[in-house]
Amino acid sequence: MQCDLPVVIVTGAANNIGLACARRFAATHQVVMVDLVDASAEAAALPHAHAMRADVSDFAACVHLVEEAQKYGRLEALVHCAAITKPACTILEMPVAEWEQVIRVNLTGAFFLAKACIPAMQQHGGSMVLFTSRAAKTGFAALGANAEKTKAHYCASKAGVISLVKSLALELAGNNIRVNSVAPGPVSGTMIPKEQIPAIAARVPLKRVGTPEDMAESAWFLCSPAANFITGHVLDVNGGTLMD
Ligand SMILES: NC(=O)c1ccc[n+]([C@@H]2O[C@H](COP(=O)([O-])OP(=O)(O)OC[C@H]3O[C@@H](n4cnc5c(N)ncnc54)[C@H](O)[C@@H]3O)[C@@H](O)[C@H]2O)c1
Repeated sequence: MQCDLPVVIVTGAANNIGLACARRFAATHQVVMVDLVDASAEAAALPHAHAMRADVSDFAACVHLVEEAQKYGRLEALVHCAAITKPACTILEMPVAEWEQVIRVNLTGAFFLAKACIPAMQQHGGSMVLFTSRAAKTGFAALGANAEKTKAHYCASKAGVISLVKSLALELAGNNIRVNSVAPGPVSGTMIPKEQIPAIAARVPLKRVGTPEDMAESAWFLCSPAANFITGHVLDVNGGTLMD
């Protein structure tokens, strides 16, 4: 069915934050739900949503998914949530291949998607939100006796995303393409083991972990006309755990 709503590409849309973003944007956009895994059941439950399987760490796949998204209408926004994490370990324990995989998916994937979206947004403007993490600013130490174990690859990849966002924002401002980031603190879902949530929530000033919907509201705000003069910004959405 033909539809005049603008198009948003949401990556990582089969799960958790990406899925909440797809649901939030479905009120105002046609949503192209991109993930490694099949999101067609989730897409079928939304108006004007389309599922696409793609690997964001493959540049040709990113170019192809942008081409496909443009068949639905004007590409107005990219909300990039897809990312991976690995169990915390020391640098000495960290396999080189694991470091390279996390950087490839989380940082290079963000670069690939932004690069693929620019030509589609250059004429009419647009907005990108690339998800980072509070851990990009603070580092990540495992709980309790394992505090020397970190996620250096994940944190470095997400710090790279912040820097990428600032470069993109400067470069693309002349095309009225705004580029921002959301930096979640701990969020319920697959990235945090359920049994750790009470201990983590107790240390949050607002006394709970975030929800995927909290993150989706922030991403939607940053893409909305209410944020028309905001670019190059990293929005901390963490219940007060880091005030930057
Ligand atoms: N959950 C948290 O506590 C938390 C905290 C801080 C930041 N974040 C960030 O928020 C974003 C979303 O997190 P989440 O909790 O929804 O994660 P999640 O693991 O629940 O979902 C990530 C999705 O990305 C997809 N994905 C992974 N690799 C991919 C690839 N190469 N190509 C395409 N899709 C791929 C997965 O299949 C999955 O559906 C991520 O960028 C994450 O780093 C999450």
